[in-house]
Amino acid sequence: MLVLGIESSCDETAAAIVADGAEILSSVVASQIPTHAKYGGVVPELASREHLRKIEPVVNKACQGAQVRVGDVDGVAVTDGPGLVGSLLVGLVYGKALALALAKPLVGVNHLEGHIHAVLLQNKMDRLAGKRVEEAQFPAVTLVVSGGHTSLFLVEEAYPPADSHAVLFNYKRLGRTRDDAAGEAFDKVAKLLALGYPGGPVIDQLARWGDAQAVDFGRIKMKGNPLDFSFSGLKTAVLYRLRGTPLALEAEQRRAWRQARENVPVEELWAHCSQPTLDLIASFQNAVVRDLLERTLAAAEAARVDSIFVSGGVACNSLLRTRCVEASRAQGIRVLFPSPALCTDNAAMIAAAGYYKLRAGQLADVNLTAHASFPLGEKSEEQGPGAGG
Ligand code: KG4
Ligand code: ZN
Repeated sequence: MLVLGIESSCDETAAAIVADGAEILSSVVASQIPTHAKYGGVVPELASREHLRKIEPVVNKACQGAQVRVGDVDGVAVTDGPGLVGSLLVGLVYGKALALALAKPLVGVNHLEGHIHAVLLQNKMDRLAGKRVEEAQFPAVTLVVSGGHTSLFLVEEAYPPADSHAVLFNYKRLGRTRDDAAGEAFDKVAKLLALGYPGGPVIDQLARWGDAQAVDFGRIKMKGNPLDFSFSGLKTAVLYRLRGTPLALEAEQRRAWRQARENVPVEELWAHCSQPTLDLIASFQNAVVRDLLERTLAAAEAARVDSIFVSGGVACNSLLRTRCVEASRAQGIRVLFPSPALCTDNAAMIAAAGYYKLRAGQLADVNLTAHASFPLGEKSEEQGPGAGG
């Protein structure tokens, strides 16, 4: 079954063709980073306009890459939330119109469900390629950690009674961020330190030159649900470490130096960072990663599962990946990550998630619409501000 996936929830216009939820025939991601970089974050109006410009060429490129005509696909899967409504609508309306015109079935996919399916897709591809990786096991605790989301879910397989061959998935949210997402904290700290946008990749690289033990940020304490996250305090702690110190002046000098330049190589940026700045960066990253890992392991213990999935843009982080591998070896748990290209926003994960829905007949109709907040694994009456996180 060939599924066309379309993703436009934030600042990436993406389309992909995936066969049987297991083989990526093409995956095209048009990034808007150059548009938003000068603002240090995504500007919603600019994002919608860029999506409008790019959606058609991106879908065409995905079809060409897979060497199929759009009429050859067996179904269309579109992200219907959570995300920026103006951005979501572009991909959603395009996908809906395409499905209607071609008389193909349409499914809506929650963006977070897409990130979870990136893990399963990677696992299937690796196994099909003959790599020695264990098959994904359920139930699993999943950490979805990106620029917009930081949530823990318990994921279980479910079998709809009508079709014994179809597999669906149940999601139960175990925790979520109460303020900033982890990726947002990376981006905001990078902005404070004038390191560029997006902040995660650059902090990841610069942190290698810093001492992660130099600044003790302490543990992040949570009242109530211990599986919830909070990263805004950490960002504020970095701000206080800077304020009135030579590091703040250094950051302003770096900002002025960076302004005239685009795509600064990390080595050049490193040359413009003092050792105390590099230590602050490494310590901040260490605090985020430690918190993510500890709560994910606590969730697995509470749910009594030994299978963990990690996905979303921050799952590219090299320290997080290393720490997860160490923890998995030490504690005998299985941790699965997608490749970096499948961690960040893409449409292959949407097509892969959509495949199961198409097979189970969970089809959308013309009323399918976009939701800014769209909780996964909860009752709809719990929807509210920030419920997507
Ligand atoms: O999944 P994604 O592409 O978009 C959202 O759904 O938000 O994630 C983007 C986020 C950004 O905040 C970016 O700074 C972060 O992922 N990120 C990283 C790394 N690569 C991307 N954070 C930490 N380390 C990285 N290597
Ligand atoms: Zn995402």
